[in-house]
Amino acid sequence: MGKVAVGVAVGVAVVACAVAGMVVGRRVGSRRKWKRVVRVLKELEEACETPVGRLRQVVDAMVVEMHAGLASEGGSKLKMLLTFVDHLPTGSEIGTYYALDLGGTNFRVLRIQLGGRRSSILSQDVERRPIPQHLMTSTSEDLFDFIASTLKQFVEKEESGSEPSPVRTRELGFTFSFPVKQSSLRSGILMKWTKGFAIEDMVGKEVVELLEAALVRSGLDMRAALLVNDTVGTLALGRYHDADTVAAVIIGTGTNACYLERADAIIKCQGLLTSSGYMVVNMEWGNFWSSHLPRTSYDIDLDSESPNPNHQGFEKMISGMYLGDIVRRVILRISLESDIFGPVSSRLSIPFILQTPLVAAMHEDDSPELKEVAKILKETLGISEVSLKVRKLAVRICDVVTRRAARLAAAGIVGILKKIGRDGSGGITGGRSKSDVKMRRTVVAIEGGLYTSYAIFRQHLHGALSEILGEDVAQHVVLQVTEDGSGIGGALLAASYSSILQRG
Ligand code: BGC
Repeated sequence: MGKVAVGVAVGVAVVACAVAGMVVGRRVGSRRKWKRVVRVLKELEEACETPVGRLRQVVDAMVVEMHAGLASEGGSKLKMLLTFVDHLPTGSEIGTYYALDLGGTNFRVLRIQLGGRRSSILSQDVERRPIPQHLMTSTSEDLFDFIASTLKQFVEKEESGSEPSPVRTRELGFTFSFPVKQSSLRSGILMKWTKGFAIEDMVGKEVVELLEAALVRSGLDMRAALLVNDTVGTLALGRYHDADTVAAVIIGTGTNACYLERADAIIKCQGLLTSSGYMVVNMEWGNFWSSHLPRTSYDIDLDSESPNPNHQGFEKMISGMYLGDIVRRVILRISLESDIFGPVSSRLSIPFILQTPLVAAMHEDDSPELKEVAKILKETLGISEVSLKVRKLAVRICDVVTRRAARLAAAGIVGILKKIGRDGSGGITGGRSKSDVKMRRTVVAIEGGLYTSYAIFRQHLHGALSEILGEDVAQHVVLQVTEDGSGIGGALLAASYSSILQRG
């Protein structure tokens, strides 16, 4: 071989080695990268773990806090608020009633006509309107003027063409889904805002007074017959359809629950008079806290950067307002620690850019190529061209975050059942085996997009309920979706109390 030929051969070999080295180097680099990613994912999975033992601890903590909240004002982070609702609709309600349902990103106005026989809502008209973002942080006057004018247009539309009735003032059930300290059925002050609302002048004010002042300004002849939380409306509609309904849960933008409590168990109001011996208690469970809750660094950051740090801890792990943002934070961290999502997208740093319905859409993408996941990563988060493996990772993150949320919500529900003796633990009827459990049928009315529109969330929740309660008991517990319950239930309660008052 001549010198030149040898030189060329050596040169080729050197280049070949260098290329091979680069490929191996890249592989090693990419393996290292994935190692880092796997580590972050593993940490997340471990921190979010909710084995049944831990869920039972959460159940017990919930029961302890319920007792503490009922025992004294401020005795627990669970406020256990009085609602003054001591009768639930029976089905015999008659007449036309309005409702206003304010509490999330939308508000609804409704009119229902009741025929006097259970389940016979003769007609029902609903109008939904998004609340303009700026009104959520403006003044109470701006917010209520907007609501009153929408309500007025709705009433005019509904009543146009119909005979002017020998009108008594129209009655409205006002569903207001924030923590309110009530002093009667139709009065109460806003304790604090949740779910992104922040109208400072309203905190500490009588909510009904603000609404009625706006109704007067708008010239609409209507009075708020009562003020209820959305969970209470949901319970009322649940009960209207099914007399075994004992509690209601909302899992939507925010989360909360209420249930029917014995008046004598509400120790903080000794001597509370109710003609039924019961009162609905609004737990405000979004603010529940326990050291048994599986908390991650993402939750801690989300909380400290939120407008209400140290509040609504349970809600921040469960509800629709927050799940998307937890997922965003995990993807951001992975993006900062590896380049599997490509160059770090600036959109990943925008709080709340990834909303929970998009998490559901990624999670439920059943196309082989995960096309929906690719689309959302690209269009919402500015992450394009990622491999199938990376898309699968995104789905896995959605699952970890959603599973924890659903299972914690299930533990909350069992907490209520345990508090009122409907968890089967006291119900063994002298028999020895589990199949001897005698449980009364127990219905929990449930509403909120996370539960109604996110099938995998629902499956995880049901799975956890069965694990905690055991199949034998769980089969007696029915979670009944009550569509539009928060608003319709408010109108039903207005009807129910109006007939009670008329009877004297
Ligand atoms: C509010 C509750 C409400 C729940 C569901 C929470 O943020 O504090 O009053 O029931 O959201 O809408």
